[in-house]
Amino acid sequence: MAKEKILVTAALPYANGPIHLGHLSGAYLPADIYVRYNRLKNNDIMFVCGSDEHGVPITISADKEGVKPNVIIDRFHTLNKQAFEDFGMSFDIYSRTSIPIHHETAKEFFKEFYNKGILNEKKTMQFYDEKANMFLPDRYVEGTCPNCGNEKARSDECENCGALYEPSELKNPISTISGNSPILKETAHWFFPLGKYQQRLENYIKEMNEKYGWKDNVLQYCRGWFKDGLQDRAVTRDLDWGVAVPLNDSNGKVLYVWFEAVLGYISASKELSKLRGNEDLWKEYWLNKDTKYIAFIGKDNVVFHCIVFPAMLMAWNDSEKTQYVLPQNVPANEFLNFEGRKFSKSRNWGMNVHDFLSRFPADSLRYTLAANLPETRDTDFQWKEFQARNNSELADILGNFVNRTVTFLHKHFEGKVPEKGSLDTIDLEMLELIKEFPPKVGKLFENYKIKDGVNEIMNLARAGNKYFNDSAPWTSIKSDKARCGSTLYVCLQAIYTLAELFNPVIPFASGKIFELLNTAGTDWDSCGNENLPSGHQLNKPSILFTKIEDETIQKAIDDANATSVPKAEPRKEDELITIDDFLKVQLRTAEVISAENVPKSDKLLKIKVKLDNEERQVMAGIAKSYKPEDLIGKKVVVVANLKPAKLMGQESKGMILAVEQADGSLQVLTVNNSVKNGTRAK
Ligand code: MF3
Ligand code: ZN
Repeated sequence: MAKEKILVTAALPYANGPIHLGHLSGAYLPADIYVRYNRLKNNDIMFVCGSDEHGVPITISADKEGVKPNVIIDRFHTLNKQAFEDFGMSFDIYSRTSIPIHHETAKEFFKEFYNKGILNEKKTMQFYDEKANMFLPDRYVEGTCPNCGNEKARSDECENCGALYEPSELKNPISTISGNSPILKETAHWFFPLGKYQQRLENYIKEMNEKYGWKDNVLQYCRGWFKDGLQDRAVTRDLDWGVAVPLNDSNGKVLYVWFEAVLGYISASKELSKLRGNEDLWKEYWLNKDTKYIAFIGKDNVVFHCIVFPAMLMAWNDSEKTQYVLPQNVPANEFLNFEGRKFSKSRNWGMNVHDFLSRFPADSLRYTLAANLPETRDTDFQWKEFQARNNSELADILGNFVNRTVTFLHKHFEGKVPEKGSLDTIDLEMLELIKEFPPKVGKLFENYKIKDGVNEIMNLARAGNKYFNDSAPWTSIKSDKARCGSTLYVCLQAIYTLAELFNPVIPFASGKIFELLNTAGTDWDSCGNENLPSGHQLNKPSILFTKIEDETIQKAIDDANATSVPKAEPRKEDELITIDDFLKVQLRTAEVISAENVPKSDKLLKIKVKLDNEERQVMAGIAKSYKPEDLIGKKVVVVANLKPAKLMGQESKGMILAVEQADGSLQVLTVNNSVKNGTRAK
């Protein structure tokens, strides 16, 4: 097969805090496995990433510590870069958006759009702090929620009740910088007309999906955005940290962080080209219609990579001769939780990568995360599972197979690959089986079913152990040394294949196995062949995987809990409740009389249900599993005494019960149509 040119980007993490395991599962590990696999396929890869160093959260952190934003980004850029390296990420470059080449690139795009009349200038009202002399970004304003009275509501949304509103509706607004009450002041900003590109974006995604199979979760998010209609988006902000707007009368304004961050992929590629001594190298990837561009991200980044960034590239391509390639696929993952709860910086829940890797080997983490990637739904990191994957899979299956084979070989065959001899059916079948793996696993990786591919590879190690047991070389060595030699010959070929297949997943261990095999490995397509010739001398085995003791795990848990604020509560689901607790929940049957989609939400449906003689509106997060019309007439079960709340500005009184299935789809609980509305379940 002809070599493919593949450009791979992984989302640029904010240099505002340490990356945690959730980041790795969301975007970085799948990207790295994909890239390492493609390098073994001899494809031509450019793999870029870097720190996203602008945006409001960074200025907030800096203000909190009383330092300049530089201090924050230098600290976390360095820390995260090192953490990625220790984790074995094989980026060609880990760049950063504070470097001049990035500022130039971002300004170039803005100026192009500005000069070609693509941007619209609009005046808006924004909170302004007269004491601090600055416009206040959303997150710098707090006030009282106009809906529920929560006094710590944000300027345009309330975390307590979920209400969304205009900043002018917020009561008693306070600037978190000075404590003053800010005024609303007019300011001018430039807007990118996303709406104009909607039809082309829809066509683009449709075409890419038809040709290359996009993931369902990604398509769902995009459809949600399209359904609501794309709006103009401001690409500038009143802030003094970021890429300055390159116009004369734009003091105190910077480019909106998302507008420039996505361009960070291009500037990182330019930076790499300079380092490689070929300034035009990046063009071979970005300005080449035959490049396969794959953007790895987590689900919270979908709109920017599937809609905003492609629209920006389309706008550029329309007005310039240089033509940028658009993403061919954006295989976004869902989230990884940590012991049943979301990672949270403020509650200190979870574990950072650098902390984790100071305790455990990178391969153990890579394998555990890879075997459980949130490809179609959120998954959970659990310490017990981590320990089990390391001890009972890496050590007991893979490590054991390699170790018993090589130890035997050194004992009885002077560490040399034995003669192949005459093979029995069992040997031939094993060699056949080995051959099946590279194409089978490769296909899974190419379709972003990385988790399945990884679990498949471990099956080859399982098969290796079974073959070893069934062939019983410890018996044949006494009666028939040639037979025993054939067995070990086959085992060694399997180990070679495993080292190659596992290379993208656990590169450190793979390297050790190749060292032991005294060879460098070839490539993916040939690794299922008989690659180790008889007579080839092996090296002495070293320990591949160490078992992780209960105490080590407990220590990690204790340390994590010690720094956690507030202290980790026991998981709610695990606590026992009394019958009185249960009876506090009023479960009643209700009939769905109407249901409709909610603008700007791909999750919520607005549903009217009828209890005995009462009608109520309930907002239910089931839009991904049900069309509104499918629900009408169903008799569902609702929590009738739930406190009312507002979701997306809509009243919700009660909750409809549903079960979540393994694939993330929901099924609403229903009762027979003869049951009277309002009947209580006990
Ligand atoms: N910094 C963003 C985040 O962590 C991701 C930026 S991706 C980029 O969610 F493309 F914009 F760089
Ligand atoms: Zn509220």
